[in-house]
Amino acid sequence: MSLRAALRHTVVMVVAGLVVSTPPPRPPVATPRPDLLALTQDYWHWKTQDYPQFATQVGINDNTAGRLDSYALTHFQRRKAKCEEFLQRAYDVDAALLSPEDLIDLKVLKEEMITYIDNFPYKKYFAPVTFMAGPQNDFKRMVQKQMVLVSYNDYQKLLSRYGEFPRQAQEILVLMKTNIENDLMPSNWSMVGVVEQLDNVGGRVEDSVFYKPFIHMPSTITAEQRFTLRQQAQERIKQDLLPSFKKIRDFLVTQYLPATRSEVGVSSLPGGEDYYRACLKFHTSTNLTPQEIHSLGLTEVARVEAAVQKTAAEIGMAGKTFSEIGQALKDDPAQNFTSKKDLLEYVRNTIYNVIFPRVQEMFPSLPPTNLTVVGDDNPQAIFAKYAGPSMDGSRLGSFILSTYSYELRKKYEVMAVSLHEALPGHHLYTTYRTRNPSTPNFRKYIDFTFTTNAPARFPLHTVLSEGWALYSEFLGDELGLYKDPYQKMGRHSFELLRASRLVVDTGMHALGWSRDKAVTFLLDHTALSIGSIQGEINRYITWPGQACAYKVGEIKIKELRQKAQNALGSLFRLSDFHDEMLGCIGPLKIVEECITNYIEQTNLVIEKGAEEKREDEKTERSDKKGSESREHKDGNGVGGKAGVLSASGGSGCALCPGASVVVVAMCWLARLPGVSAHPI
Ligand SMILES: *[C@@H]1O[C@H](CO)[C@@H](O)[C@H](O)[C@H]1NC(C)=O
Ligand SMILES: *[C@@H]1O[C@H](CO)[C@@H](O)[C@H](O)[C@H]1NC(C)=O
Ligand SMILES: *[C@@H]1O[C@H](CO)[C@@H](O)[C@H](O)[C@H]1NC(C)=O
Repeated sequence: MSLRAALRHTVVMVVAGLVVSTPPPRPPVATPRPDLLALTQDYWHWKTQDYPQFATQVGINDNTAGRLDSYALTHFQRRKAKCEEFLQRAYDVDAALLSPEDLIDLKVLKEEMITYIDNFPYKKYFAPVTFMAGPQNDFKRMVQKQMVLVSYNDYQKLLSRYGEFPRQAQEILVLMKTNIENDLMPSNWSMVGVVEQLDNVGGRVEDSVFYKPFIHMPSTITAEQRFTLRQQAQERIKQDLLPSFKKIRDFLVTQYLPATRSEVGVSSLPGGEDYYRACLKFHTSTNLTPQEIHSLGLTEVARVEAAVQKTAAEIGMAGKTFSEIGQALKDDPAQNFTSKKDLLEYVRNTIYNVIFPRVQEMFPSLPPTNLTVVGDDNPQAIFAKYAGPSMDGSRLGSFILSTYSYELRKKYEVMAVSLHEALPGHHLYTTYRTRNPSTPNFRKYIDFTFTTNAPARFPLHTVLSEGWALYSEFLGDELGLYKDPYQKMGRHSFELLRASRLVVDTGMHALGWSRDKAVTFLLDHTALSIGSIQGEINRYITWPGQACAYKVGEIKIKELRQKAQNALGSLFRLSDFHDEMLGCIGPLKIVEECITNYIEQTNLVIEKGAEEKREDEKTERSDKKGSESREHKDGNGVGGKAGVLSASGGSGCALCPGASVVVVAMCWLARLPGVSAHPI
């Protein structure tokens, strides 16, 4: 239950408690929920034990930190059996006895199991090595960014993982061989740059990224231990890691790459149409068909292009196409950054001094966790992404910007990107998710390892996280944060990209579009450079359906907001709606239930409040002993608040700061997942 929900709950209880004169039939009292609690805890325990790399991602440093995930086909089968067991247990929980919040937890858990079980057959489409996934990325990131390396024992766990790598590499090779046999190969475009990535982890032992943690070790480790650890590391890297990476590389070059598909769409695969629909369902959590998403994309592109024309008129460019306008913006030297430092300072100023104060007004119960803005000098770094903080809060959430190509970044892009990646986008979403101690861990922490194996995996809730981030770009409009026509163009540019993605993703995967046709569409309708477009398109080819989640989610969030606004009228408060949205993690249909509960409970509070008021007035009129009724009224402290809520709510003042009934700014340390990269 969110803090606000908890408060509301109290309001209902207090008000209800005052109407005792005619005791209503009492609803079933929320019982302790031992079976549900045991189920969610067992599921969490199993998941972190069975996916040790996920455990490391969220910052758990127990026995799991010495092990690696299994990619064995037989193991996938065991996982499915386990999910069936959990699902059965979920069905056995008596839903009628649960509070609305517990019921939502139960439903989300069922959905997770059903997602895994129903999509299990699609595991045959797993491509464990592409330019977006594979040990050359994941294993490396885990070592560099996620492992806790403080004690001698921690280092032993790392070495134990190195020792396990040949086993995992062998399982990956089997999966790849199976792909060739089953004729379920990824597109050749999904393999661009993979050999280079693999070459980069090879080379001399001492230069290897896997030896880096052993060069500078914390002072808790004695000189003698350092000596031993370094020797062991050299052995493991030389005997286990590098030869295994080389095996994967050689297999790729000699057998896998020559067997890749030259088509781009997954519809060219046997069973590919169903597979694509399952991907769309996984990422959007809707049953929208490819054609429906495609049409939605075209409509959105046209709508945003009309907005572009309005903004263009402000800078004397009416009638130009978006790519012409984009070119003019890119050529404007005033929009350039002069150095990496200039770029980072500009972004930090935007986030800390321009966005933060406004977001704080809009989100009165904003969790007080800061984030860092860091530059990434790696030539392959993507333009911008967000990585969540570690579970104990020792590592802050970070907005990571590619500084390598700072000359290509433009000032007009910064506002939209910052709203998306930082505040109120991914950082706020991630922070809110974990703010409530009664939210079970399985809902708080999402497994971001090997994300491209969708849909045969546990949910990523892409539609919610990316929908929220895109909705955050829209909130920038409402907050008046796009200060000049250039920043507005930056906003349009990113929105056009997300709308265009619906068109090209479905185009390539379901409607027979060629890669060139998709490239041309992005060239015509976005301001991206050809280089960025090539990278974007390869990503859509490799991760079918993911890119459709942003727009679908944003549209749904706006729709739910409208629904709440219509249902609550002057009682609608934007900050309440946001609290509710951010507190409810799950598929869209469950988020919709949360919003429905919120509408019903708000109405209930108000009705009870009004009823109570009428009762009071009646009493006051008929009762000569006025003091008694006043006592009665005073006792209705919280109910009185409900009156305040109704009086100050909405009234066209959706953005009014500080008007929420929730005045609780709880001090807590975010306990958040580890690096969870959200691409823009
Ligand atoms: C993929 O295959 C097609 C058809 O052979 C070819 O035109 C294209 O250049 C290939 N792409 C890459 C990245 O090799
Ligand atoms: C601004 O950046 C563009 C590249 O985006 C470059 O072509 C142009 O020369 C730069 N202008 C100045 C004045 O640095
Ligand atoms: C967040 O951190 C930045 C950088 O350290 C700092 O400038 C800023 O004031 C901090 N913001 C808050 C609200 O603490």
